[in-house]
Amino acid sequence: GRSIVVLPSTTLDGKKSRIVAQLTKGAGVVTPRSNIEFVVTEFGIAHLFGKTIRERALALINIAHPKFREELLDAAKRVRYVYEDQILPPIYEPLYPGQWETYQIFPPDNQKVFFRPIRPTDERALQEFFYSLPDEDIYYRFLSAMKVFPHRNIQAMVNIDYEHEMAIVGVIGDIGEEKIIALGRYILDQKTNMAEVDFAVRAEWQGKGIGTFLLHYLCEIAKSKGISGFCAYVLASNRGMLHIFHKVGYVVHSHLEGGIYEIYFKFDEPAEQCITD
Ligand SMILES: CC(C)(COP(=O)(O)OP(=O)(O)OC[C@H]1O[C@@H](n2cnc3c(N)ncnc32)[C@H](O)[C@@H]1OP(=O)(O)O)[C@@H](O)C(=O)NCCC(=O)NCCS
Repeated sequence: GRSIVVLPSTTLDGKKSRIVAQLTKGAGVVTPRSNIEFVVTEFGIAHLFGKTIRERALALINIAHPKFREELLDAAKRVRYVYEDQILPPIYEPLYPGQWETYQIFPPDNQKVFFRPIRPTDERALQEFFYSLPDEDIYYRFLSAMKVFPHRNIQAMVNIDYEHEMAIVGVIGDIGEEKIIALGRYILDQKTNMAEVDFAVRAEWQGKGIGTFLLHYLCEIAKSKGISGFCAYVLASNRGMLHIFHKVGYVVHSHLEGGIYEIYFKFDEPAEQCITD
């Protein structure tokens, strides 16, 4: 069986959070925390089973009513459940864009991958993903030889607003044992209304069409938000990524400088030809 606790995020009058940092003294406990698998509110699902205290606290804060999240985070910091510098995603409506969840099947062996917007609780899985990438792929992705992916850097990648910044992860495995095998992100430059994109796919999953799918999927999301187009910085030796951009279906403008292609394309310029220098 599975244990699921379902509750509204606030009391009926909306004045108190029903997700709390600590139980009041003497409160009755009928189910110990080690037995709770899911907690559900109108703001989402927290999967708690097998998670660390820090991950549990963050998962619960992120399904609390938004107006109580800051105070819950402060309380969690006071009892050292979470890092002192822990951040939360900026809040926009809708909170977690569940409409961008989808399954895709990839040939040749029909493997199913679940794609969804990244969540604050993906921090550890994202660190594991980056540590799994070969040095060359890290260099292609970050344009530098990154060796460590500490909390202070990774938390900014999982606590996003889904409005100016979007990250889609491809995951395999059951809920609670999910492994990230791909990541596609964009960050909007509000001045130009263009978003910078980047991608990474685990080595053993490359060449199946996942990178291509992620680019098209991010285009779809960005277009729905009125973004004008994408830009990217790609090493000249990264033939795979360049190839994916050039078959995206828009006129691709590119400029080579210092061994790095600066690429951009706009959604209102469907491809009949590619312009490169
Ligand atoms: C680039 C990357 C994201 C592509 O992901 P992927 O899932 O392997 O991509 P796909 O399977 O959708 O497509 C790869 C395409 O590139 C082509 N390709 C791969 N290597 C190539 C090469 N050396 N020369 C030319 N084309 C190449 C493949 O044939 C395929 O094209 P096709 O679909 O027309 O057959 C992945 O290789 C990766 O993570 N690389 C390391 C990180 C990185 O480079 N990130 C990009 C920074 S913006």
